[in-house]
Amino acid sequence: MKILAIESSCDETSVAITEKRRVLSNVVATQIAEHKLYGGVVPEIASRRHTEAITGVCREAIRQANISYDDIDAVAVTFAPGLIGALLVGVNFAKGLAASLSVPLIPVHHLRSHIAANYIGSDLKPPFLCLTVSGGNTIITEVKDYTSFNPIGGTKDDAAGECFDKVARTLGLSYPGGVTLDKIATAPDEKRYPLPIPHTEGKYDFSFSGLKTAAINLIHNCSQKNEEIDVPVLCATLRHRVAEILTDKTITAAKDLGYSTIALAGGVSANSELRKLLSAACEENGITLYKPELKYCGDNAAMVGVGGYYEYLSGNIGTLDLNAAATMPINYR
Ligand SMILES: Nc1ncnc2c1ncn2[C@@H]1O[C@H](COP(=O)(O)OP(=O)(O)OP(=O)(O)O)[C@@H](O)[C@H]1O
Ligand SMILES: [Mg+2]
Repeated sequence: MKILAIESSCDETSVAITEKRRVLSNVVATQIAEHKLYGGVVPEIASRRHTEAITGVCREAIRQANISYDDIDAVAVTFAPGLIGALLVGVNFAKGLAASLSVPLIPVHHLRSHIAANYIGSDLKPPFLCLTVSGGNTIITEVKDYTSFNPIGGTKDDAAGECFDKVARTLGLSYPGGVTLDKIATAPDEKRYPLPIPHTEGKYDFSFSGLKTAAINLIHNCSQKNEEIDVPVLCATLRHRVAEILTDKTITAAKDLGYSTIALAGGVSANSELRKLLSAACEENGITLYKPELKYCGDNAAMVGVGGYYEYLSGNIGTLDLNAAATMPINYR
């Protein structure tokens, strides 16, 4: 079964052709260069660029997979959550394509698809526990089956990616800040740059807003005193603190709930310190860890196709009145 999958929830226009867990093509047109000018994603610009890019990206995905439109058995699309105008471009394109080819339309939840990135080229099977960390979300979810999810904790304020991006922006690093911060970070120094460990009521919940503000205040205080910041060291200290919090809570949840398999998902799953700390903690606790390949960590349509395949098997088929939604819990039905 060949699926043509579409992703347009934020600033990447992507179309992929997938077959079960196999990726036949995955074309990503990123808008990063343009949003860089503004230090963050401008929703109206994102929608316009998706509209311009989607037809060409779709043609290229078909060409690279070496198939024709007649070979497509279903169209999968990210319908929620994300920027509403951006999502609508993908959803409407998908509806038109599915109707014209007379094939099923499969609505895919963006965070479910980030989790599905772990199925590409791997033998991962539910049940497992997943830590999803991205630009807008930070959640721990029990993945009970391919389309059955139980969120057990999440951020009460900022997402981990947002914390990285905003501190990086204050430091004058280029957008997307999390990527740059990870690249230039050296060794952490907690004595030199003390950062708080946030407190949350929920055992598996997160809070990154206080940590973000503490780092930003530290930068402002230094600049007021005309003290030079050691940017690579501060980046490393923040990166380490965030990775440590994410690792500790995920391992605690896995031990409490008896999971011997953990998966990591979302854009921040590319973070080198998080990959390192979580790998070491899993090894220490006899837990098997799955991480997506770096090219499938950020937004891409391959993960939508693979996740969409399982949605299709479970009977999650959309109709032509499918709408996009800016917010949607991962365990929606
Ligand atoms: N190596 C890295 N280290 C830290 N953060 C990173 C790294 N690579 C990407 N990120 C962060 O990942 C985020 C982008 O991830 P992703 O594209 O999944 O987010 P999104 O789609 O905007 O949000 P969501 O998935 O929550 O809707 C950004 O915040 C970016 O800074
Ligand atoms: Mg994403």
